[in-house]
Amino acid sequence: MASATLLKSSFLPKKAEWGVARQVAAPRVSMVVRAGAYDDELVKTAKTIASPGRGILAMDESNATCGKRLDSIGLENTEANRQAFRTLLVSVPGLGNHISGAILFEETLYQSTVDGKKIVDILVEQGIVPGIKVDKGLVPLTGSNDESWCQGLDGLASREAAYYQQGARFAKWRTVVSIPNGPSELAVKEAAWGLARYAAISQDNGLVPIVEPEILLDGEHGIERTFEVAQKVWAETFYQMAQNNVMFEGILLKPSMVTPGAECKDRATPEQVADYTLKLLSRRVPPAVPGIMFLSGGQSEVEATLNLNAMNQGPNPWHVSFSYARALQNTCLKTWGGRPENVKAAQEALLLRAKANSLAQLGKYTSDGEAAEAKEGMFVKNYSY
Ligand code: 13P
Repeated sequence: MASATLLKSSFLPKKAEWGVARQVAAPRVSMVVRAGAYDDELVKTAKTIASPGRGILAMDESNATCGKRLDSIGLENTEANRQAFRTLLVSVPGLGNHISGAILFEETLYQSTVDGKKIVDILVEQGIVPGIKVDKGLVPLTGSNDESWCQGLDGLASREAAYYQQGARFAKWRTVVSIPNGPSELAVKEAAWGLARYAAISQDNGLVPIVEPEILLDGEHGIERTFEVAQKVWAETFYQMAQNNVMFEGILLKPSMVTPGAECKDRATPEQVADYTLKLLSRRVPPAVPGIMFLSGGQSEVEATLNLNAMNQGPNPWHVSFSYARALQNTCLKTWGGRPENVKAAQEALLLRAKANSLAQLGKYTSDGEAAEAKEGMFVKNYSY
């Protein structure tokens, strides 16, 4: 039975050519070499944002979400009110000592302060890198267990090229994974694939991508379950980023901390949260990644700071820091209340939180003297941004 004789001899390399044939075949499997025009700049930007004692101010609420914030202090959701609040935030004296980056919504990237200075210029003067939210929000994921996926890849390259021209140097894409609704394999794959495509496109356009698969706090599950889901999500996300030739030295992560579900009866101490979260990160995140910038996800201001502090009690392979919205802005917003005479006090409130998290990044924070209000949780079911 000479099956080889059935093969047309022209399909086979001559013996002397076998090595050559192997060399030709190999690159199809693994030899995509990345050399992006912005690589050096991406590494530099990521390192600047991940610098000691500093973290990110997330102020990129969509107009709808910003409207909810303004409504909570009795203000109408107008462009002028959004501009007034964001002017207050970016012009806090000395903010750049604690904040290295600010994530903006598109409106703010192109906006001026109430005194007519470009918001981007104020940030740069403060030593803060301007960033931009580039995702287009969540929509139902057909065929899943009532889960969602994140839109925004269409036209992303050209939008990002324009954002770079306008001064943005990093980007954010927030997608979510729900534990009570699964998460289904489909939802995890879709989240990871979207993040990976976004990350590759962002790097190609000079923006450091913040990779944020938020595992929502919703649910009654314990911390073990969150840990299990987070391992799955991050394994898939890094796999897809590698498939898309994302350069890990030029990204930042924005994970949720590993905590019990918001409705779980067993609460976790900051030490437990730190143990689980660092175990997750050490199993899933290569040391090439420069920074881990956590979201606050509905934790109280003090809780988010205490948890971060607990994670910085020993050396980590990456800069472990914050990218909070609610846990930085909440007291500031309430203190302002939309009144010009409260601007200074509100700015001091933001500076206080920025300083506290700065200390937590260095592992030197204590909650002595924190106001009771700063200890109130801010969890909202099915939170959208
Ligand atoms: P929070 O810190 O309020 O959870 O902000 C979430 C977020 O994705 C901001 O970019």
